[in-house]
Amino acid sequence: AQVTISDDNSTVKAVLPTGESVQVRLYGATVSSWKTATGKDNLWMSEAAVLDGSKAIRGGIPVVFPVFGTAPDKESVAKLPQHGFARISRWEFLGKSTSEGSSSNVKLDFGLSSENLDDNLKSLWPYKFGLLYSVALDPDSLKTTLVVTNQGDEPFEFQTLFHTYFNISDISAINIAGLEDSDYLDKVDSLKTKHQDSSITITSEMDRVYEPPKKSEVPVVISEDGEPRFEIVRDNLDQVVVWNPWTETAAKMADFAPNEGYKNMVCVEPGSLKPWQKLEKGDAFEAAQTIKLV
Ligand code: BG6
Repeated sequence: AQVTISDDNSTVKAVLPTGESVQVRLYGATVSSWKTATGKDNLWMSEAAVLDGSKAIRGGIPVVFPVFGTAPDKESVAKLPQHGFARISRWEFLGKSTSEGSSSNVKLDFGLSSENLDDNLKSLWPYKFGLLYSVALDPDSLKTTLVVTNQGDEPFEFQTLFHTYFNISDISAINIAGLEDSDYLDKVDSLKTKHQDSSITITSEMDRVYEPPKKSEVPVVISEDGEPRFEIVRDNLDQVVVWNPWTETAAKMADFAPNEGYKNMVCVEPGSLKPWQKLEKGDAFEAAQTIKLV
């Protein structure tokens, strides 16, 4: 059996012979579904996600580039929308490949460059860039890789992050390990810097930027009821954001449904936020996350 691919000009879908599947929307190159052979989605998607290309997709894996959140004090990105333009631009599907001799995996490639940006976004961020985004599916893992290239004469600076929404059955049963001994910026407590002593449990709104000790090879592991479920391995992504909106913030988001959906999701988002990456003419930056089902 072979990998089957379908592309209806808005979504690219790949199914492995073993039954696992992935779907990527060209809008944002957002991975909108990643299912096991039994049909269970590993990613959470809001029932009210806007899928018509007028708003970033609430769920799956949106790609954050070239700014995380907003950065009003950073002139080059000050006017960009929250989390940048990658997640609200239409990408090109560049094709698929499989590892040699194997029919049990597939890699889908997507591209976005300055030429594809709409005029407004282009005027807000006038640099010549190329993004190559690869989504690689194995029976028990998903790897997303982003390569950023500077194709112009001017250097530019950026942040990037994979905004993964994990599908979980109960937020109160979740434990996130691997970020012990990290400092973090607490976005729900006046941006105070705090220290994480033990693994993470979530009992109220959480929005934190973790700064794991440098060169830490430790994966981030999401467990449910004490059973490890997802293991996240970072490559060249020095920070990890952990986000759950909880009751009130979830209720304020028009595209977040059902209201109780916050119990079924947690965002664990590896990113390169600090320092800003700077690319000179002709230079490239590559980073990846690998999510293993354990
Ligand atoms: C997280 C941020 O990464 O994304 C949060 O840390 C933010 O502060 C969340 O609320 C969702 O952002 P958005 O733009 O998709 O609503």
